[in-house]
Amino acid sequence: MTPNISLSLAGRVAVVTGASSGMGAATARRLAAGGASVALLARRADRLDALADSLRSTGAAVLPVPTDVSDRAALDAAATRVAEELGPVDLVVANAGLMPLAPIVDRRADDWDRMIAVNLGGVLAAVHAFVGQLVDAAAAGRVADLVTISSLAAQKAMAKAAVYGATKAAVTHLAANLRIELSPLGVRVTNIEPGATDTELRGSIGDPDVLAWLDDYLASTTVLQPENVADLVGYVAEQPAHVNFRQIVITSTAEV
Ligand SMILES: NC(=O)c1ccc[n+]([C@@H]2O[C@H](COP(=O)([O-])OP(=O)(O)OC[C@H]3O[C@@H](n4cnc5c(N)ncnc54)[C@H](OP(=O)(O)O)[C@@H]3O)[C@@H](O)[C@H]2O)c1
Repeated sequence: MTPNISLSLAGRVAVVTGASSGMGAATARRLAAGGASVALLARRADRLDALADSLRSTGAAVLPVPTDVSDRAALDAAATRVAEELGPVDLVVANAGLMPLAPIVDRRADDWDRMIAVNLGGVLAAVHAFVGQLVDAAAAGRVADLVTISSLAAQKAMAKAAVYGATKAAVTHLAANLRIELSPLGVRVTNIEPGATDTELRGSIGDPDVLAWLDDYLASTTVLQPENVADLVGYVAEQPAHVNFRQIVITSTAEV
């Protein structure tokens, strides 16, 4: 009979991209609190170091690895380093992203390219870097998880979010396809679509009118906290080996 008990995260080796703020930092804290060793990936080394120091003070094993997820070779190098210093990876949270919302008629093509390179390319680069370790972990009888952070914008069309939504729809669809190939190899794939969450994501918006519009919206409603998404990631990873949350939408009660 399949054991139907929650798993401990102790002994797991996790990688979180976009760990320098928001959901990624909260997820790193949640996984470390559960006993996992955690590699922290993002570009801002000072933020990663501060988070690593605070987690180490709790006894956690953590490794900050400053990495730009749009650079596939850098992620491949990070994968080698994480395996050497923390051990072979069995939990990857592909979370890094940016959201420079703007009207499509503004034709901010550089922002379009960056969103494609980070929001979609960064997930693909994480898959390129870590899929071998995940498959090996599963083959060795360990639980292995790939968690992708998409967005409610993957399924909900919104003004000013055409390219952002397209990158997130691509992540959602990518995850569904990865699941078909990786589940038979023992790797669980979970795609999470959060609604509005109180993070630094608005910082990537360059258009002051769009920023004011978003801030008005955020001030008028209740949004998720990053810890709500982090707890979900922890819960997903703690499921018994035969349980796969495939696709999860999480929003505040206020969001419709
Ligand atoms: N906040 C929301 O309302 C919301 C809703 C749905 C989905 N999401 C998604 O949730 C994920 C996390 O965002 P967040 O809301 O937590 O925002 P956030 O606080 O701005 O975090 C974004 C993270 O991505 C990292 N990042 C950005 N570009 C990167 C790059 N080129 N290479 C490596 N890391 C990079 C940032 O680190 P560095 O700048 O240090 O590199 C940061 O750690 C994103 O994929 C976002 O699209 C957010």
